[in-house]
Amino acid sequence: MYDLTVIIPTFKEEANIRNIITEVDAVFQKNALNGEILVVDDNSPDNTIAIVNELKKTMKNLNLLVRTSDHGLSQSVADGFLHACSDVFVVIDADMSHPPSLIPKMFEEIRAGSEVVIGSRYMEGGGIKKWPLKRRIISLGATFLGRLLVPDITDPVSGFFAVRQSVVAEAHLKPRGYKILLEVLGKGTWENDKEIPFEFSDREIGTSKLKIKTIIEYAQQVLDITLYSFTHHQSAAWREWKKIFKFGIVGLTGIVVNVAILNLLLLAGVRYEIALVFAIVVAIFNNFLWNDLWTFKDHARKSISSIWKRLQLFYVVSAGGALINYGVAVILVYVVTMDGNLANLCGILLGFIWNFVVNRRVTWPRTRG
Ligand code: GDD
Ligand code: MN
Repeated sequence: MYDLTVIIPTFKEEANIRNIITEVDAVFQKNALNGEILVVDDNSPDNTIAIVNELKKTMKNLNLLVRTSDHGLSQSVADGFLHACSDVFVVIDADMSHPPSLIPKMFEEIRAGSEVVIGSRYMEGGGIKKWPLKRRIISLGATFLGRLLVPDITDPVSGFFAVRQSVVAEAHLKPRGYKILLEVLGKGTWENDKEIPFEFSDREIGTSKLKIKTIIEYAQQVLDITLYSFTHHQSAAWREWKKIFKFGIVGLTGIVVNVAILNLLLLAGVRYEIALVFAIVVAIFNNFLWNDLWTFKDHARKSISSIWKRLQLFYVVSAGGALINYGVAVILVYVVTMDGNLANLCGILLGFIWNFVVNRRVTWPRTRG
């Protein structure tokens, strides 16, 4: 048994494999880590396998798994989880895009209680070197989509992460494509995570194997994790759904409050325009209170901003939501000549999505600790 296993998925990496193995092993020695290196190769037609076999002669902690079916990066990493001789897995690319020097820090965080530790390109201190604009845009799109499932994680599609065996032990992973981390985060069992910034530097040698097919597979994967969460309630994606349901229920109470206040004030003889303003302002206040005390209770308790600050943010974001509702409805009625009520429903739906997504990140972000 080792303390940790560094899993290196490879396909045609003859130019890089010796280098990454040597570097990872040097990090083990420098930090007195009892680590295993597990190369998971998809039967590369080049010299990758031969080089690993040669290194194995002098390295007792080096293991090689050669796969001959179900070719794929995510599948290989998931296979690595099953063959590793330890309870802590670190996944790293072979092409030196990820700094092996961060491995001890990741392991330290796992020992300190995190179940998942992620090397993040998108948090403060992280970054990406040498990426063309197209690649950056694709990556940002993938990150946005992934963050719908796990909003607190800044880089849910990173290829550099550490995870405890217990996180994936019970999860029914359906690995495909490149984004194994999102699969682990979306379906795995975990509460505590930690992100560590790093600078991604693209491969010097060889070519990236990212294709259009990868993007389509990714969209399918996000959908699959969403469906999975409905029947597996320990998953992080389900935790997020619960918040959306609660946010929706709170929104419904807001409508009740709005209508009640409006009619009370009208009965008291207040003019309609004035009464409506009060109704809206009070309804938003109602929504804020329930969301702060119920939907986002945990976030509010640990928040670094005061309740007043959160209230202000909520009013600003809600105003944006109302504008979206209004704008969408008007456009649908006048440009697409849609039925007025249907158009309003579309506007309400988009306004709701805006309100949830933005408030989730801005008003009630999770503060670590
Ligand atoms: N076993 C196996 N099978 N390994 C593979 C396969 C495969 O089909 N395809 C790629 N790999 C290995 C490569 O040999 C390399 O070690 C690693 O997986 C990453 O492959 P790249 O082709 O270099 O990926 P990338 O640089 O485009 O993407 C990286 O960044 C993404 C985030 O933007 C990876 O880290 C992705 O996992 C990550 O999502
Ligand atoms: Mn790469």
